[in-house]
Amino acid sequence: MVFPQVKDDIKDRCDIYEVINSYVPLKRAGANYRALCPFHNEKTPSFMVNPTRQSYYCFGCQRGGDVISFVMEHEGVDFMGALGLLAQRVGVQIPEYEPASRHDAGSNAENTTRATERKDRLYELHDKIAVWYQKNLRSEAGKDTLEYVRDRGLNDDALVTFGLGYALKGWDNAVQWGRQHGFSRQEMMSGGLLTVKNEDDPASQAYDRFRDRLMFPVWNEQGRIVAFSGRVLTSDSPGGKYVNSPETPIFKKGRILYGLHLARQGIKAAGHAVLCEGQMDVIACHRADVTNAVAPQGTAFTEQQAFLIKRYTENVVLAFDADTAGVNAALKSLDSLAPANLNARVVLMGEGEDPDSLMRASGAESLRQKMADSEEYFRFLLDAEIRRHDTSDAAGKTAVADTFLEAVSKMKSRVVRAEYCQLLASRLQIPEGFVFQQLEAVTNRRRRSAAYRSEAKGAAGILQAALNDSDAVRKSERALLELALHHKSFAVRMVTDLPADYIDDTGYGPVLNEILAHTEQGDWAESEEIVREQIYRSGEHSFGRILEAPEFGSDVDPDKLEKAYIDSVAKIKSMRADAKLRELTQALKSTADHETKRALRQQIQELKRSRPATWTTIR
Ligand code: UTP
Ligand code: MN
Repeated sequence: MVFPQVKDDIKDRCDIYEVINSYVPLKRAGANYRALCPFHNEKTPSFMVNPTRQSYYCFGCQRGGDVISFVMEHEGVDFMGALGLLAQRVGVQIPEYEPASRHDAGSNAENTTRATERKDRLYELHDKIAVWYQKNLRSEAGKDTLEYVRDRGLNDDALVTFGLGYALKGWDNAVQWGRQHGFSRQEMMSGGLLTVKNEDDPASQAYDRFRDRLMFPVWNEQGRIVAFSGRVLTSDSPGGKYVNSPETPIFKKGRILYGLHLARQGIKAAGHAVLCEGQMDVIACHRADVTNAVAPQGTAFTEQQAFLIKRYTENVVLAFDADTAGVNAALKSLDSLAPANLNARVVLMGEGEDPDSLMRASGAESLRQKMADSEEYFRFLLDAEIRRHDTSDAAGKTAVADTFLEAVSKMKSRVVRAEYCQLLASRLQIPEGFVFQQLEAVTNRRRRSAAYRSEAKGAAGILQAALNDSDAVRKSERALLELALHHKSFAVRMVTDLPADYIDDTGYGPVLNEILAHTEQGDWAESEEIVREQIYRSGEHSFGRILEAPEFGSDVDPDKLEKAYIDSVAKIKSMRADAKLRELTQALKSTADHETKRALRQQIQELKRSRPATWTTIR
């Protein structure tokens, strides 16, 4: 954690009973308190607050954690947002969060302070220059731009809500503005508002990045302006259609969703987020009262953005147009949606149509209706692919199946995969068995190439990939995580019984490894904190349960714990050994070299011999 003192300070001063009781009325239940869960619908209260542990847990939806994660979840803010709200409540000052320097910040408070001051200056710079851009839009020089904006159907309300402005024509208006308003060249550069003539020479002449453009401020989740996007006004203007701020200390492209600061409540209320392609679309949606619309900013939709959305909802509706570019964008989005386990639907826009053009052509009501009428992602994809190919022959069917199964193979759930195999088989009129086989082949290819990409991990990559999907491993890892978290003795045993590379790098694995690493250093007591941080970071509900309502907690019969331990360690070890065996056998098949073959055979023999022994060494 960046500044544990501050976090602890805030937690010390906040009583979880008081905080939660201000959101939901709590009733005494023995030593604890009880309420109807604020996070899911229920008729009988299963939400418990434990004042001794200063924690909460819902037996219904399994959300749990401390006062910070409660505020995160309830207010729909991130960790820093929650800290901020709680800090206000108890009157604690907090310095700015700086993820980039996580590791050195704690040990070097002075650096942190300086970085904070620098970032505060950048926020101030963005606030002030946004006001200037807005003034320009209303000035004589901005007349044409204002007309353009009005032509596009934006009224004054929208102009104000979205803070639209105008960057003047010429090369050094912002340069001058900075001088007059006390922002150094260094600060203007660092905020991305200026750029230099010669990129290799930072001292070369600086000029305005945004010239003669319609300016869209870009807000972060907390509602601070952190960047700008500037649109050209005529199609023959030089430069790209949109010029965006570069990454700066306060702007990480892949972590910003345009419109999120306005959409947070709308997303929660609607139960889904609408993902558009650009800022004009977001503006159109909000104007039509579709207040749950957001868009990535100057990048394709990223995994980080998917996790950002996941804090508010599990459901995303993609509003991309139906042409090839739109389908490709939808396809690409799946790479980011799948890791976050978000459910996706798609709104069917016409060719070349986007929410903004629809709003202009047919009005708010049409846009609202369109946005409410979405289709399941995979059905959309299949239809689009079938439209694009001639499926009367084998080649066409193959092409459709390839694209479709490639997408399906990214889904973890077997139920989901089976469902879409059936769909594909029936739509293309091919036997389901073939489709399943094909999916297997695609999946294996994916895994192998995924493993191949993570070359640094070498052979472990292949093992990792093969193990990722395994429910059994997950279950075992969860049991081990609980055991390590609630019983120091088991954590100590795991340090020797389970080498780090035996533990999967997805799901519970990384947390377990972190706990074991701390245990090894004599810091087992940190374990709870590690899991709590995981809750702040991922919002993953199952961690709440592991922390607050474990199956293998401290009140469980020791024999049962011992059995769970032995079973889980054995499971993980045998999965490892099996995967390794498969890998060696595969290698054996694919090599012709006699020396290599001999070495591989020997390894296989050894592995087979050592397998039972691995299990019996467990106490
Ligand atoms: P579009 O080209 O679809 O623009 O780019 P748009 O949103 O429909 O804008 P209008 O209606 O023509 O004014 C979608 C998004 O992609 C990013 C922008 O964020 C834009 O909103 N983009 C596009 C860039 O960052 N740079 C570009 O050169 C083009
Ligand atoms: Mn458009």
